[in-house]
Amino acid sequence: MKECTLLMPLDMHLHLRDGVMLETVAPLTSYTFSGALIMPNLVPPLTCKADVIAYKKRIMSALGQVEDVEAELMMDDYFEPYMTLFYQNYDAKFLEDIQDEITAIKLYPAGITTNSDGGVSSFDIEQMRPTLEAMSRLNIPLCVHGESEGFVMDREAEFMSIYELLASNFPDLKIIMEHITTKAAVDMLDKHKNLYATITLHHLLITLDDVAGGMMQPHLFCKPIAKRPEDREALLHVALNAHPKVMFGSDSAPHPQDKKESCGCAAGVFSAPIALQVLCELFDKHDKLDNLQTFISDNAQNIYGICPEFKEVGLIEEDFEVPLKYGNVVPMYAGKTIKWSIESVV
Ligand code: NCD
Ligand code: ZN
Repeated sequence: MKECTLLMPLDMHLHLRDGVMLETVAPLTSYTFSGALIMPNLVPPLTCKADVIAYKKRIMSALGQVEDVEAELMMDDYFEPYMTLFYQNYDAKFLEDIQDEITAIKLYPAGITTNSDGGVSSFDIEQMRPTLEAMSRLNIPLCVHGESEGFVMDREAEFMSIYELLASNFPDLKIIMEHITTKAAVDMLDKHKNLYATITLHHLLITLDDVAGGMMQPHLFCKPIAKRPEDREALLHVALNAHPKVMFGSDSAPHPQDKKESCGCAAGVFSAPIALQVLCELFDKHDKLDNLQTFISDNAQNIYGICPEFKEVGLIEEDFEVPLKYGNVVPMYAGKTIKWSIESVV
C-alpha cells in the first residue's frame, strides 16, 4: 500500500466565513494544514485593523486555540490563520499600522464574485499608486481575483492586461494571481518576476464540461468558472512539476446547501475536507507524488517568507468515502469514494 508524508501543508486561499459556518469548516482545515491564507470577503469585508484582529480571534476560538497572558499558545497542534485585508486605496500610515496583523491584501474587482461589492471598480493605476507603492515598500503581497467584466469564459484571459500593468508599474510588489484557471495565466508566470499564482484542487480536476456539460452540478460551480481541457492541462503541468511560482490555494468556499441547490446558485466549491487526499491521488496518478511537498508547502513558504508550525501528515492509499455533508455544507465529491485517506497527523 502506497504512503505519502507531507510536512506543514499550507492552503494559501481559504474562505472560513463566520459564525456557525466558521465553527463547522475551520477544524476541517486546521486538522491537516499548518496554516492558511484567510480571505477577507465577509459581510462587511475586512477593511480595518480592529476587524482583522477580531476575526482572527473568532477563528482561533472556533479552533479552541486560546492565547494565554504571554500570547504563547497552549497547544501543540497549532494552526496559523494568515490574515488578509480587503483591498481599497489605503494610505501609507494606515498600512504601516496594520502590517504586522496581515500577510497580504486581497483585491477584488467590484461585484465579480461572492461578497466583492466593495472592490475596485476601475483599475486606475495612478489612483492606486500610493497604496501599491506603500505595499511594495512594506513588502505586503497583493493577491488578486483576476477577472474582467467580459464574457464568462474570457474574463481571466482578458484580465492579463491588468496583471501586465500592475506587474510592470510595481516591479517590487509581489502579485499573486489567485485561483488561476487558464493557459493564459500560466503563460504570464514566466513573463514577470513578481507574478506568482495559486491553483485550486478543483481546477486541476474539472473543466466546464463537469459543471454544465451534462446535468448541472451546482457544487462544482465557482468563480472563476472551470475552463477548457487545454487550460486544465496547462495548470496540471505547472502544479505537478511544482513550478516554483505556483502554490496550492484551495479556494474552498462553503455555502449552505440551500444556497447551492437553488435558483441563483452561489459560487464556490467546498473542497477543504478532501484536499490533501485528492491531491495525493492526483499526483500519484501522474507519478509526481515526490513534487507534492513543494506544491503544498515549500513554494508558499518561499514566496510569502513564512515559517509555519511543524505538522506532519501521513496519507495512505486506502479508500475514503466522502461524507454527504459537513453541517449544512455539501463537500466536493460528496458520497463518492476517493482512493487516499489521512492516516496520521503529528
Ligand atoms: C468565493 C466565495 O464564495 O467567497 N467563491 C468562489 O466561487 N470562488 C469567492 C471567490 O474566491 O471568488
Ligand atoms: Zn476565493
